[in-house]
Amino acid sequence: RLAELTQERGWQLYLVGGAVRDLLLADPEKTLLLTDIDLVVDGCHQSYNAVENNQQNDKNPPAVELASALQKTYSNARLDVHGQFQTAALLWHNDPVLDSLWIDIATARTEFYPYPAANPEVEASSIRQDLYRRDFTINALALRLTEPYQGELLDFFGGMNDLQNRQIRVLHANSFIEDPTRIYRAVRFAVRLGFELEFQTKDYIHYAINSGIYEKVQSENYSTQQRVPALETRLKSELKYILQAPYWKPALQLLGELKALRCIHPTLELNQELWRQIRLVDRGLIRFDPEKTLTHWQVRLEVLIAHLAPEYRGDVADTLQFTLDSIERLQQLESAKADVMKRMPECQLASQFYRLLAPYDLPMLILIAVQSPRWVRRRIWQYLTHWWTVKPLLNGNDLKQLGYKPSPKFKQMLDDLLVATLDKQICDRKSAEAFIK
Ligand code: CTP
Repeated sequence: RLAELTQERGWQLYLVGGAVRDLLLADPEKTLLLTDIDLVVDGCHQSYNAVENNQQNDKNPPAVELASALQKTYSNARLDVHGQFQTAALLWHNDPVLDSLWIDIATARTEFYPYPAANPEVEASSIRQDLYRRDFTINALALRLTEPYQGELLDFFGGMNDLQNRQIRVLHANSFIEDPTRIYRAVRFAVRLGFELEFQTKDYIHYAINSGIYEKVQSENYSTQQRVPALETRLKSELKYILQAPYWKPALQLLGELKALRCIHPTLELNQELWRQIRLVDRGLIRFDPEKTLTHWQVRLEVLIAHLAPEYRGDVADTLQFTLDSIERLQQLESAKADVMKRMPECQLASQFYRLLAPYDLPMLILIAVQSPRWVRRRIWQYLTHWWTVKPLLNGNDLKQLGYKPSPKFKQMLDDLLVATLDKQICDRKSAEAFIK
């Protein structure tokens, strides 16, 4: 229907990006379910200035016009319009036929980067130019959906060849300077698809990292006090993508080899010590959070940031838009570690370890454990294994049934019961009742 609507207007419609790549890589024997579809409409090469258009008349950009027309047929879809960027999206959520589907429609465009890592400016252009602004050759293929030549594959930059040779290759030397998050994307695609980073592409990555662009971008963001720097938002979503994927370990390893963690902070290196901590965290999460009540990718990211010198952690966490409790954790990690190190040697009874460690939440205890000497870590693991979930053998209701009237003393009684339970002075209800008396 969308192709018909495009053709009626004399325009061209293309399937682009990851969907084309995945279609070409798909096993013909298996069904490929596309849930995220990118389309580009070429509105006939007319020059189109989004800003001027918004101000001077109300004609919609081709992508917006098409999406609105399609929504008239599929009224159950939600329509999101970004007139400024000449794009529109149609979203189906839990649809009985389409299930969850996201269609992004963009107007063919070129993006200019007036200075490195800035937001793109938009100007209408042909499909070739639109594809040229993309990250890798394998993502710069297009499939024509309209007549004439419906079904034609447009491959201007050798994407098909790179798909066959399993190579991740950028389209031009400045690609990573313009958008440093592409380094993370290159790694993600390489590991996920089992591809190699093409030789020269790797060189461009090294060049971009050594050029110090990240330090520059970060200092610009801090000094201009932008609330949500666009680059950091994109970096965060790439980090999330990688750290929650099943292949997060080899991907992180490759990021480390490329020294790409310097995008997060210029001093961040994936050295042996950080690897050791990451492995420990992973074991801790498997053991103490098997139900995945925590967001594991976030804890992994916290470990990376916690590896920075204390004075940098809060700012980086803030820039990467960590949750408030996560920012607080990183800010308090040093004092929590010092507190535990100082007081732990005095602890002998289980209840004493409990009192020391109970004020900290699980991610904080994991962070403290992996950054502390072995004797501290062992005690924290012991606390999490045996004592963390211990409850007093009687609760408030039990006390009422035993004839005690609710009073501020209740808390003290329950506390005493917990200590006695932890230290194994009582082991069942009967001994608990005797203890209370
Ligand atoms: N793109 C780009 N540079 C970026 C992000 C995206 O050039 N920094 C382009 C690529 O052509 C990409 C398309 O936008 O194919 C869509 O981006 P996205 O949905 O993030 O990636 P997909 O290729 O669809 O990959 P995935 O399957 O992981 O979603």
